Amino acid sequence: MKTILITGAGSGLGAELAKQWATKGHHVVLIGRTKQKLESIDKEIKDNKGICSIYECDITNPKELKKLKQAMDRDNLQIHMLVNNAGSGTFGALEDITISDIHKVIDTNVKGTIFATQTFLPTLKSMEGRIMNIISTAGLKGKNHETVYVASKYAIRGFTESLWKELEGTGVSATAVYMGGMNTPFWANSDHINDVSRLKSPFEKALQIIEEDEGQNEIFIDR
Ligand SMILES: NC(=O)c1ccc[n+]([C@@H]2O[C@H](COP(=O)([O-])OP(=O)(O)OC[C@H]3O[C@@H](n4cnc5c(N)ncnc54)[C@H](OP(=O)(O)O)[C@@H]3O)[C@@H](O)[C@H]2O)c1
Repeated sequence: MKTILITGAGSGLGAELAKQWATKGHHVVLIGRTKQKLESIDKEIKDNKGICSIYECDITNPKELKKLKQAMDRDNLQIHMLVNNAGSGTFGALEDITISDIHKVIDTNVKGTIFATQTFLPTLKSMEGRIMNIISTAGLKGKNHETVYVASKYAIRGFTESLWKELEGTGVSATAVYMGGMNTPFWANSDHINDVSRLKSPFEKALQIIEEDEGQNEIFIDR
């Protein structure tokens, strides 16, 4: 049994990964900003006899991450795996994207992933653990009306590839995961995709990620 921390686990892909890893006997630790969403996934997992812990934390805030780590230390929770999944998007012509949305996407997708990794790296080193970064096909190629989102995902691709080098010999590995569109709340405030219901479900993508995961550096669900 491994202990797996998943950021942004109150909905979408993070919640599905949590549920599926829990059915395999792992202890999943769910992180997000909205207590009710975390509680609802926690209940589902526990109703299915899974082991789950939840903590509210905004990953864009290093002080909250520090408090999260302290709370987990108090609860004797040492993680084997950090899944940087929390993310947000902003779409449309660059001139129309607000400054606040640019900050939100870069703060969440880029800085949040970096801060969370920095916070848990000492633990992961002591556990010879793993980092899994949920990127997107937006980390593989440029896309129309996705400038800021694509920039954020390329950043995390670069971050992950640099971790491969920096973590050589430490026992810690890092995996970049690339997948295309999913029907999740991610698209709730956007008309960028015509028919979100035609996208694959996060359940299917989580299943594919877990099935294809053999600890390799990269997992390509879609290209
Ligand atoms: N949906 C797609 O088509 C698609 C395709 C490829 C890749 N992805 C990537 O997959 C990942 C998961 O996205 P999803 O589609 O499952 O979307 P989602 O359902 O919106 O999930 C994202 C989660 O992140 C959490 N979150 C956002 N900001 C946060 C913060 N500052 N601190 C902590 N948690 C935060 C949100 O919960 P709270 O608001 O409650 O904190 C939410 O539960 C993202 O990295 C996304 O870029 C999505």
